[in-house]
Amino acid sequence: MQVATRDTPTVRPRSLAEIKQPVEDELIEFKRYFRDAMRSEVRILDLVTQYLFRQKGKRIRPVLVLLSAKACGSINESTFRAAALVELLHTATLVHDDVVDNADKRRSMYSVKALWKNRIAVLIGDFLLSKGLLLALEYEDYDLLQVVSGAVRRMSEGELLQIEKARKLDIDEKTYFKIISDKTASLISACTACGAVSVTDDPSVIERMRLFGEKLGLAFQIRDDLFDYGEKDVGKPLGLDIEDKKMTLPLIYSLQTADSTERRKILKLVRKSRKGKSEIRQISEFVKSKGGLDYARGKMNTLAEQASEMLGDLHHSEARDALESLVTYTVSRGR
Ligand code: IPE
Ligand code: IPE
Ligand code: MG
Ligand code: MG
Repeated sequence: MQVATRDTPTVRPRSLAEIKQPVEDELIEFKRYFRDAMRSEVRILDLVTQYLFRQKGKRIRPVLVLLSAKACGSINESTFRAAALVELLHTATLVHDDVVDNADKRRSMYSVKALWKNRIAVLIGDFLLSKGLLLALEYEDYDLLQVVSGAVRRMSEGELLQIEKARKLDIDEKTYFKIISDKTASLISACTACGAVSVTDDPSVIERMRLFGEKLGLAFQIRDDLFDYGEKDVGKPLGLDIEDKKMTLPLIYSLQTADSTERRKILKLVRKSRKGKSEIRQISEFVKSKGGLDYARGKMNTLAEQASEMLGDLHHSEARDALESLVTYTVSRGR
């Protein structure tokens, strides 16, 4: 285990481009693996995957793999495969998620579901998922497969538990955290753990990096859930969670603090199947007036601090600094 004291307690906010800088060259190599793994002889598949490649997300997960590896050792071929694998899985789950959430926009472009409809979107998601797992299998990266397959299972479970709770509207804070841990933090912690696994077999380092990813992943999803209450363009639909009866932390907390009459009134609005703009606005105003947004932000910031603390034992390096900045970026990002 690499041990050192922390000498930079406060981290200057950095742009994502700056954060990626220590692994700039490695990201080019990652892209090659990612693109190659998506190729197919089937024309429609090639068309859609080309579209997805152009759509281009923030690539936070491969960056996490690469930075985690670099902070714990030296990047090698299996690190690149891990980076490509997690982005393939992530892309697959987003394509599926837009079917599940009936969302027409993704990354400021039309979603696959909007352009090619559900049938194709489901199959494209399956294809990407299988290609990711095959990539690891081809090179016998069993450690990697072990870590990542667990995340795939948990992501499906998390999305399903979320649907179950949206039907019954009986979600509490503990269940909310279980959902976001499963659907989002599981993959993000797989990224940081895989990065470490690819360069070291020290179990304490791997476990620390996994925990770092878990805390970061929870904060990441709370930030995403806060977007739903904003008005700023984030490249995907707003107000969709409320529309879908998906109760997230700001609403869960606000309902807890409301009296029973108010709670009943709001729950009645949430339960409505086709909500108009004014109903969504009413729910949103209720959450703001109860301090639900501030509460969620508080929880998010605490998790971010806990994430940063996990990096404390790592040797000082450019990569470790970048990981710290990525925590700050996660909770302050605009999309
Ligand atoms: C979106 O993840 C899905 C969530 C877990 C909230 P990202 O915000 O990382 O998506 P892209 O890849 O940058 O579009
Ligand atoms: C993210 O869930 C999807 C997964 C983590 C599988 P959301 O539905 O909250 O994400 P966005 O807002 O559509 O990106
Ligand atoms: Mg969604
Ligand atoms: Mg969301």
